[in-house]
Amino acid sequence: MSQDNADLEARLEEQDTFEPPESFVEQANVTDPGVYEEFEENWPGCWERAADLLSWDEEYDAVLDDSDAPFYEWFTNGELNASYNCLDRHVEDGAGDNVAIEWEGELGETRTYTYEELLDEVEDTAAMLRDLGVEEDDIVTLYMPMIPELPIAMLACARIGAPHSVVFAGFSADALATRMNSADSEYLITCDGYYRRGDALDHISKTNEGLEGVEHEVSDVVVVDRLGDDLDHELADNQHDYDDLVAEYEGSTVEPVPRDSEDMLFLMYTSGTTGQPKGVKHTTGGYLAYSAWTSHAVLDIEADDTYWCSADIGWITGHSYIVYGPLALGTTSVMYEGTPDYPDKDRMWEIVEKNEVDIFYTAPTAIRAFMKWGTEYPEQHDLSSLRLLGTVGEPINPRAWKWYYKHIGGEECPIVDTWWQTETGGMMITTLPGICEMKPGSAGPPLPGIDAQVVDANGEEVDAGKAGYVTVNNPWPGMLRTLYNNDERFIEEYWQEYSDPDADEWVYFPEDGAKIDEDDYITILGRVDDVINVSGHRLGTMEIESAVVGVEGIAEAAVVGGDHEVKGEAVYVYAIPEDGYEGDEELEERAAEAILDSIGPIAKPEEIAFTHELPKTRSGKIMRRLLEDIASGNELGNTSTLRNPDVVDDIAEQVSND
Ligand code: WTA
Repeated sequence: MSQDNADLEARLEEQDTFEPPESFVEQANVTDPGVYEEFEENWPGCWERAADLLSWDEEYDAVLDDSDAPFYEWFTNGELNASYNCLDRHVEDGAGDNVAIEWEGELGETRTYTYEELLDEVEDTAAMLRDLGVEEDDIVTLYMPMIPELPIAMLACARIGAPHSVVFAGFSADALATRMNSADSEYLITCDGYYRRGDALDHISKTNEGLEGVEHEVSDVVVVDRLGDDLDHELADNQHDYDDLVAEYEGSTVEPVPRDSEDMLFLMYTSGTTGQPKGVKHTTGGYLAYSAWTSHAVLDIEADDTYWCSADIGWITGHSYIVYGPLALGTTSVMYEGTPDYPDKDRMWEIVEKNEVDIFYTAPTAIRAFMKWGTEYPEQHDLSSLRLLGTVGEPINPRAWKWYYKHIGGEECPIVDTWWQTETGGMMITTLPGICEMKPGSAGPPLPGIDAQVVDANGEEVDAGKAGYVTVNNPWPGMLRTLYNNDERFIEEYWQEYSDPDADEWVYFPEDGAKIDEDDYITILGRVDDVINVSGHRLGTMEIESAVVGVEGIAEAAVVGGDHEVKGEAVYVYAIPEDGYEGDEELEERAAEAILDSIGPIAKPEEIAFTHELPKTRSGKIMRRLLEDIASGNELGNTSTLRNPDVVDDIAEQVSND
């Protein structure tokens, strides 16, 4: 390293606040610091500003209806269509030739869709769905990887008022079946397979296996042929080839169906405390307004930008910030099919350079991998088109933040560290990049209009520097409306902890721990429930546990997250073999297989340790904290309150031996 560079590293190392670069501020969408006060004083009317970013078929009567809290309603009696807002209106405004989606396949092929072309495709697909019998409010399941047909299908569903439920393509057959069963979904769009590190992956066999687990009749399955001759497969009677079928509808006109603000736009299943995934319900008006507003205010997206969010559309980040928010603003959204290190570790930077990407939004786990690979990869490319960087999904450590700032942003791009959840629909806690100073490691203050704070177990706000829990005291337009078909669980999961129903005071509890500083900057510490965050993917430890205890020969299991340098957290399984079984390689393989079958490769355990007992308190509860410490290689605290303290050394020894 040259002396200059060494000096710079040393300076960065020490610096803990960063001002937004002047060049950014000059052009930013939101620059008036008064916006915080303005939103507070004019709440909830302030949210008209978000609604104004959309085109409404019917004006709403009221911004917020809180008469049945916490079942809040937003922009009541307004009518709009999400697909119209993301497509037609841009074409009508003369921007039909602007690129909407710039797609790149892993093998290097590209597909470019202008707004006009995307609208045509969406109309054809919408016509096809309708002809298959899909009616307004029917839930259509989409089980596809990062191929253009996924956003096309989402927008086609939105166009005809059929909510979609996207299932991440990396999820297992079982996960697909569980979600289709829960949503009573009779229609599925999937694909034959896709490419990963150059290999053709078979997706249709997994789909078919999943379909066997669906308890109701599935009327139609449409299969996108992504792999051509690279994979032979046969279609069952109710299965159609997407290209063949949609070709019959070429040139169709399908009028966008006006939807009530509160009509469901989509369902997204996510992990929670129990084994059953939760179907988070998002609606048309509030969600779209909120994803558009945050795309505008936080990601600073403009119609003439090229913007790239490297998440998968199968997660909420891709819904809000690859599809709905960016397209509502008429920008160019980049979509990449593959992995960041194929064919080489500079793939991301090659895509940034080639497309002259202005804004790049990714996860801390990716940044930590880039860091590990070394600066020579970004250095091979001209990244000067970038003006803003973002992160999402998990806490970012200051070292990774600074690396991103320096080596990707060239010290000229602000970074927005955006905290939010599947349930919140959009960003909640983050700096506004044209206004706020940045503090690496801290997400920032709550966004304007978001009344978030850090409280103790009694709901009292904690002092600066002390740890507590994040809560949100006021509703916001992008919030989930309920858990699908389960209002009770909705209340239990999010509103029970801190609300006072008798006083009609409702406090949203996201189940994250945090600290707050004297400037109201919030540092997220991580989940306080049984959810772990592996490479920015949210996994329920209970779901994994139930897969493991389903294995013949395993009596009991505990699953926890342990620290991991790149993934943030990794899955650790501790299991007790049944009498007559050995904790041997075979049992380990079967446990690993069960996890793969029930969730998918993202939940692959770092370690499966067999033990004759699990550490338990005197009242018989498994001491998860202790298991987490063992997994993370932390110093083990006091174990004297355990019923079986001896077991701790046994387990720790096993984990450290491997
Ligand atoms: C975590 C992803 C720290 C958090 C959008 C939250 C974060 C969970 C951040 C939601 C961040 C998300 N800093 N932690 N910037 N963003 N998280 O539903 O624990 O997949 O509760 O939504 O991710 O994960 P989900």
